[in-house]
Amino acid sequence: MCGIVGYIGSREASSICFAGLRRLEYRGYDSAGIAVVEDNELKVRKVVGNLNNMEESLKTKALPGSLGIGHTRWATHGRPSIENSHPHLSCDGKFAVVHNGILENYQELRSQLKSEGHTFKSQTDTEVVAHLVEKYYDGDLRNALISAVKDLEGAFAIGCICAGSPDELLAVRRFSPLVVGIGETENYIASDMGAIRAETDKVYVIDDDEVCKITRGGIEITDLDLNPIEREPYVIPWPADAAQKGGYKKFMHKEIHEQPDAMRACLAGRLSSVDKPITFENIGLTVDEIKGFKKIIFTACGTAMHAGLVGRFLMDKLARIPTEGDLAAELQQRDPVVHEGTLCIVVSQSGETADTLEALRAMKAKGAKVISVINVVDSSIARESDGVAYIQAGPEISVASTKAFTLQVLTIQLLSLYFAEIRGTCPPDEMKRLKAAILAAPGQATELLKREDDIIAVAKKYYKKPNAMYLARGVNLPSAMEGSLKLKEISYIHAEAYSAGEMKHGPIALVEPNMFVVSIACEGPTYGEMIGNIMEIKARSGPMIAVAYDGDKKIRMTGADPDAPADDVGSQPNDMIWVPRTEEYISPLLIGIPLQLLAYHIADLRGEDIDQPRNLAKTVTVK
Ligand code: M6R
Repeated sequence: MCGIVGYIGSREASSICFAGLRRLEYRGYDSAGIAVVEDNELKVRKVVGNLNNMEESLKTKALPGSLGIGHTRWATHGRPSIENSHPHLSCDGKFAVVHNGILENYQELRSQLKSEGHTFKSQTDTEVVAHLVEKYYDGDLRNALISAVKDLEGAFAIGCICAGSPDELLAVRRFSPLVVGIGETENYIASDMGAIRAETDKVYVIDDDEVCKITRGGIEITDLDLNPIEREPYVIPWPADAAQKGGYKKFMHKEIHEQPDAMRACLAGRLSSVDKPITFENIGLTVDEIKGFKKIIFTACGTAMHAGLVGRFLMDKLARIPTEGDLAAELQQRDPVVHEGTLCIVVSQSGETADTLEALRAMKAKGAKVISVINVVDSSIARESDGVAYIQAGPEISVASTKAFTLQVLTIQLLSLYFAEIRGTCPPDEMKRLKAAILAAPGQATELLKREDDIIAVAKKYYKKPNAMYLARGVNLPSAMEGSLKLKEISYIHAEAYSAGEMKHGPIALVEPNMFVVSIACEGPTYGEMIGNIMEIKARSGPMIAVAYDGDKKIRMTGADPDAPADDVGSQPNDMIWVPRTEEYISPLLIGIPLQLLAYHIADLRGEDIDQPRNLAKTVTVK
């Protein structure tokens, strides 16, 4: 959590840091702060709350200086307050640090530093770093930072400046992401490339225990023993405006609408025709390995796990490999059996989620082959995996993940077919049908997005309800789980997802007029049972929205009066979300989209701050 930026050049550092923080706001928005060096003094500005407060503060009073660091916080140690906001300063006010990560030994360091006479102003773990740098400083900021870092245990990306050193910006990382942006006579640091893409398209991606000494004219990367490190710059492939809202009211809305194009980008180079085999570059697996896999474990958190659960289903069904799926935070608790031929597939948008990274390391330590399905290029999980399938979604800013989910599902569908093709486990005609369905999906997604007004009409009927239940069976159970997660995280409506088969075993007790039910009932192997479940809920006066394929006549018969108002529970209303027909195993790719729109418009009608839902951060880099 938290985002850090830094700038050294000839322009106003506070403005550049602020612009970078705006793009990092998805990492946390409890408070923000900027420190600059001006006339050999540190000047610090902090605000509680989101960056609008910082914008106001900088408008009211400028913060001049051409060297600066900034931070946007998602609170871990200490409540959101001015004292706990970064940058944190040393006792003498000469050293300022910003930090993303968690220091595990900060209590011991704090006690030690206190006994040496240092006084602390915050409850944060980060403040120890400023005091350690002060303690070790003997005229060389880099040496002091290196000595400080050698005392630290845990995860960190740190930016550091010193009042007496107006010509250097220092940065270092271990387990938390850090990039250094390369300019002509100015340079940058940031938690991710998106934060500084508007300034430069060239960055160095920094590795663990690498220290960067950044001046206006150059960037030196060394290890903690000052051995120089040569690094090729990475050229950011997406345009500077890719992370802007582009006319949409919210990033989430923009990202939902980007899905058809993103699907095409994800397919490019992998699947072009039903008659050609699927290809994956850099996946890190040989044909013999794929033929020999005896077990697959999907692991991830949140939305990414829902995509992984689609994968659990498909790898079993299509590639005929016994497949499990565990939340990353739970995987180690189960201590799963890993033998030769075990593949772990890690799914993550950011590639930085702490639980997922730890699960990856645990699986590698047990001897599993690990590949990942990732959006952010060169992220920690991508780099630690044996191979990567990038989902090619472009930057996802909205805290509520949408296009990343769809593209994770698509990438996993392609991977499952790729495995099935190599293993010869899917009959050729079925393989062709599934490929055709995937190739048709971008066009069908465009069609779905054109139906947004229908979704808005449904949202208007239900947005005041306090509770919701999402039901499905089979490959779309993860779609129901994802629909329910989307609704709860941005609208704060209490939402649950269940296998419809579980209803009679308890959850049906919750059905009443204030709980609306969303049932995914697309014609396919589970259709008959879903219709039965819909009837049972209707018989108990549960308001029902059903998701079904275009042209399905039977599902409308289950409603007593499709034209009755949604609140008229006595007449058992039946609202429909229609989805273009596709193959069962491909359907999660499309069904997620109207459910994202439903959650978005319900939250919008409720007036919620959709891009910054309460208590959440985009990237969860703490356990
Ligand atoms: O970056 P990751 O995909 O690893 O993130 C995993 C979850 O934190 C993430 O999907 C989260 O559940 C989203 N807020 C869902 O919208």
